[in-house]
This record gives sequence, C-alpha cells and structure tokens, in this order.
Amino acid sequence: MGFNIQINVVLVIWFVVCVGSIDADQFCVNFYSKSCPSVEALVLGVAKQKFVEAPVSAPATIRLFFHDCFVDGCDGSVLISSTQKHLAERDAADNKNLAADAFDTVNKAKAAVEAKCPGIVSCADILAIAARDFVALAGGPNYPVKKGRKDGKLSAASRVTGNLPQANYTVDQLLNLFASKGLNRSDLVALSGAHSIGFSHCDGFLDRLYNYHKTNKPDPSMDPKLLKALRMSCPPMGGNTDILSPFDVNTPFKFDSMYYNNLQLNLGLLGTDQALMGDPRTKTLVQFYDKYGNNFFQDFSSAMDKMGSIAVKTGNQGEIRKDCTRFNA
Ligand code: HEM
Repeated sequence: MGFNIQINVVLVIWFVVCVGSIDADQFCVNFYSKSCPSVEALVLGVAKQKFVEAPVSAPATIRLFFHDCFVDGCDGSVLISSTQKHLAERDAADNKNLAADAFDTVNKAKAAVEAKCPGIVSCADILAIAARDFVALAGGPNYPVKKGRKDGKLSAASRVTGNLPQANYTVDQLLNLFASKGLNRSDLVALSGAHSIGFSHCDGFLDRLYNYHKTNKPDPSMDPKLLKALRMSCPPMGGNTDILSPFDVNTPFKFDSMYYNNLQLNLGLLGTDQALMGDPRTKTLVQFYDKYGNNFFQDFSSAMDKMGSIAVKTGNQGEIRKDCTRFNA
C-alpha cells in the first residue's frame, strides 16, 4: 500500500502536463502535443535504427545528454560545432571522447523531425528524448520526458572546466558537484548506474592500474584479475588510444543493475565508480540498487528527469535551432 502511494507521488511529479493552451514558457511532457504530435515517434524511429546499426550510439547519447545538462543546463550547447574563431563546448578536453554516433543520432533525429514539423522542436529536447529512448532500448526504464527546452545561444569550451566530474574525484567532490546542479546523494548513485552500459578509454582509469594517488602502485580496491586484464589492454604509456574497456564486464550493452553488483566485487572501472562502494554515504545505496533493481530503475528515471531540468531555457531565453550544429543566423 505504502509502496503504491510512493509510486503514484513519483509519477505525478514526472507527468507534469501542460494544461490549457501550451505557451512557449512551459516545460512539460505534452509540450508538442498540438504543434508536433509525432516528435517522440520520429526520434524513436531514428534511435531504433542507430541501435541496430551502431549499438554504441546508446551509451554515447546518454553521456552526451549528461555533458549537455551539466554545462550551463540542458540547452543543446554541446551540439554546436567550433568555428575557426571560436572553440565550442564539444571541443573542450573533457568532451574529447564524446562519440560521433551520439551527434549523428541527434542530427538524424533533427532531420526527421524538421521534415515533419519545421522550426518547432529544439535540439535540446531531441537529445533528451533520444537519451531516454536508448535507456529503454538497452533494457532500462521508459520514463516520460518533459519538453519545451530552448536551444542556448552560447557554447564555449571555456565553460566546461569544473562543471564535469573527473574520473579520479573523491565522493566529497562528486557530492559537491552534483549538489551544485541540484542533485542529491541518491541522484549521484542512481545516475552513476548509467555506467551499466558503455566503454571507457584507458586514460579514464590508467592511474588506477599503475600509480594510484601517486603511490606507484595499483589501486588496492581493484580486483586482481580485472587489474591484470586491464593492464594487458592499457600499458603505462604509448598504448593504443582506440582501445575501449567495458564498464560492466558482464553485460556491457544491457541497462541493468549489474553495475552495482560489480562494485561490490571490486570490478568498478573508474575510480569514481569504485569509490561509491568505499564511502558509507553511498555504499548503502549501491547495495540497495543491486538488491532492488526496480528501485534503481525508479530512482534513475526520476534522477534523469531532475538532470534533464537543470537550467532549462524556455520562451525567449533561447531559440529553436534549424541545424543542431550551429546557431541560427
Ligand atoms: C559520477 C561522475 C562521472 C564520471 C567521473 C564519469 C566519467 C566518465 C568517463 C571517464 C567515461 C569514459 C569516456 C571515454 O573514455 O570514452 C564515461 C563514460 C560514460 N558515462 Fe560517465 N561519468 C560520470 C557520470 C555519468 C552520468 C551521470 C552519466 C549519465 C547519466 C554517465 C554516462 C556515461 C556513459 C553512458 C558512458 C559510456 C559512453 C560510451 O560508451 O560512449 N556518466 N564517463
């Protein structure tokens, strides 16, 4: 009984629906119900196709959404291409590994939507919908996405530093950064569960293999077999920069709660993943999400909704870009 009430409350929070005539200042699940009712179907169609052609598009797009939202809000600013005179967000050092398939997904979805409803749907909303679609296609929850975001008119590489977490952050640093975005401890642990799918380049965890906290030794909290395997693919220097290691060695393309199981077996890939198990403030949530996968899905969905609401621009605070890679003239 109590459980049902809790679910209903959560759903009420998500299903923020526009009532009456929908004006430009609103931010709600049915924002395009009159102006572009097929938007969700169009984006899903592209996501499905990309998921078959290039499954890496799924983790890549979820990560792209996170990187968009944490830097000046979810406003599609990460999608802008640099020009000769201006270095855009996507070319900042912290964004260098954002995968091309994620940008391709958004651009293809935008083309499909523009063909049906020109000038109506923002790139920021398309990215939010596509990220959710990939979570669901990979086996995760299919949560409702609020819409009505405007595309930002600023995208600068210099804005990125300090707004995205580093792979060697402590739990304190993670909690502080997430708190600065309005996200709490359970949001941090639930959102980290996105690392249930996808891959990392060696530079994300190299220090853990050879020189953890400048000790010239590996991270003692890494399983010795995992350490050995990762050292084979990632030598101390001069390794192939194309090598990718899965976050979840067991089910790298399945969005599930295996990530939390792995952390309890010292199989976390990044320092920040494993650190969640080493701190009492986050450890209990790791154990909880491993044991109760449904609660993970619920909390992940509501945390994605919160993350997707960071500093959203509505009305005349932004524009509806014609081309997601450049500002309107
Ligand atoms: C908690 C702090 C976090 C840190 C330090 C972190 C760091 C990283 C790093 C270093 C990579 C590997 C990138 C590469 O080498 O290609 C990565 C990948 C990824 N991250 Fe995170 N991340 C964090 C939180 C999140 C959140 C909140 C989400 C989404 C909700 C997310 C989604 C992903 C996904 C899906 C991938 C795989 C990307 C791919 O395979 O293309 N991460 N992250």
